[in-house]
Amino acid sequence: MKIAVIGLGFVGLVTATVLAGKGNSVTCIDTDERKIEKLKNGDLYIYEPGLDDIFEKNRGRMIFTSDYSLLKGSEIAFICVPTPTVNGKINLSYVRDSVFSVNSADRKATVAIKSTVVPGTASWLSFQIRKDISSNPEFLREGNAIEDTLCPERIVIGGKNAEEMEKISKVWEFTGSPVLKTTNENAELIKYASNAFLATKISFINEIANLCEIIPGADVATVAQGMGMDHRIGKDFLRAGIGFGGSCFPKDTMALVAYAEEKGIDMRIVKSTIEVNKARVKHAIRMIEEEVGDLRGKSICILGLSFKDNTNDLRESKSLELINELKAKGAKIRAYDPVIKELDGVEIVKRLEECDGMDCVVVASEWKEFETSPLYERAKKVIDLKKVVNLRVHPNVRAIGVYRGKD
Ligand SMILES: NC(=O)c1ccc[n+]([C@@H]2O[C@H](COP(=O)([O-])OP(=O)(O)OC[C@H]3O[C@@H](n4cnc5c(N)ncnc54)[C@H](O)[C@@H]3O)[C@@H](O)[C@H]2O)c1
Repeated sequence: MKIAVIGLGFVGLVTATVLAGKGNSVTCIDTDERKIEKLKNGDLYIYEPGLDDIFEKNRGRMIFTSDYSLLKGSEIAFICVPTPTVNGKINLSYVRDSVFSVNSADRKATVAIKSTVVPGTASWLSFQIRKDISSNPEFLREGNAIEDTLCPERIVIGGKNAEEMEKISKVWEFTGSPVLKTTNENAELIKYASNAFLATKISFINEIANLCEIIPGADVATVAQGMGMDHRIGKDFLRAGIGFGGSCFPKDTMALVAYAEEKGIDMRIVKSTIEVNKARVKHAIRMIEEEVGDLRGKSICILGLSFKDNTNDLRESKSLELINELKAKGAKIRAYDPVIKELDGVEIVKRLEECDGMDCVVVASEWKEFETSPLYERAKKVIDLKKVVNLRVHPNVRAIGVYRGKD
């Protein structure tokens, strides 16, 4: 098929590459000319395990351009542009602009919105351009995006036009995944409800972690393990830490609350999820202060900068929030990250040994390589905020969600 992908960020680039890998010709459109130039030169600006390999093999079937007219003749255009929140509310201008541009370039192309949008968006835009628009929300996880696109747990397609919905379904047939066809509004809400629910699981286990820290013998990881053995609960998203960050959960939970509020509905659980999440970095700071005392002049090494492992995405990273708070309290920061090697305002070391002899090492992201390290034995204090360090190998490490009595 000839397919167009609009917006070449984490979702669009992965979608376009995987679809090219399945033999489709993909016109890849982004308004950011610098990104287009980079892609033409084979330079991927996102870190996503496995992406470079598929990209290299299939670049020949991909056209990179900022010129919408080149999508003419595409059977489907997938909209993958940002939907940020501004003052807590969703900004739909990128989605609107891209849908209008696709419509001007080729009115025959089926439009499928992958971006996360509030219920009613596809119907509103359908009315504006006098043409049905379908919803095909994206559920991929950064760091696991290729596998999630090749083999998603479900495909949700919303719309009014059965023929167009079938066409979208055909594109994803290779996945063999179950397909749920429904209204635009259901599809749009399934995405928000899913993200809000997962965020709630994280905030929930973080509150249990707080409790574990004052109960002798308690460890949140084991509590979560035991909970997760019940399939009604499930083991995923029950990892205690410094809270959720990234480009989705923070903005999507806020957008859902604001959307519901406009409709007169008070989303109390989602609001609490956001509140609990906001308190996590302060909690982490308290832990660090308990270990090293007054932070003024103290040297702190932060391990992990991105919002989670296996990505270079820094959006809403709790690690960066932590660094800013520590700096404000007078600490001197040095950071290490497996993939981020440069960042304005942060001294980043290339090798972990360069963090030897510091007052405290803080593990702020769950990269596998942080499970064990000789650094933990040589450091004065080590705090694991992501429950990643193997405490059997490093019993000297203080971990979030583990009882720590008085010394
Ligand atoms: N990142 C994720 O893990 C993830 C997962 C599921 C869903 N989503 C949703 O998918 C959408 C995209 O997310 P992302 O993380 O890929 O965003 P991103 O910010 O990484 O990329 C979006 C791209 O769209 C481009 N763009 C903006 N306006 C455009 C326009 N009018 N025409 C063409 N290109 C335009 C930007 O230049 C940018 O390159 C969002 O709604 C997000 O909530 C993201």
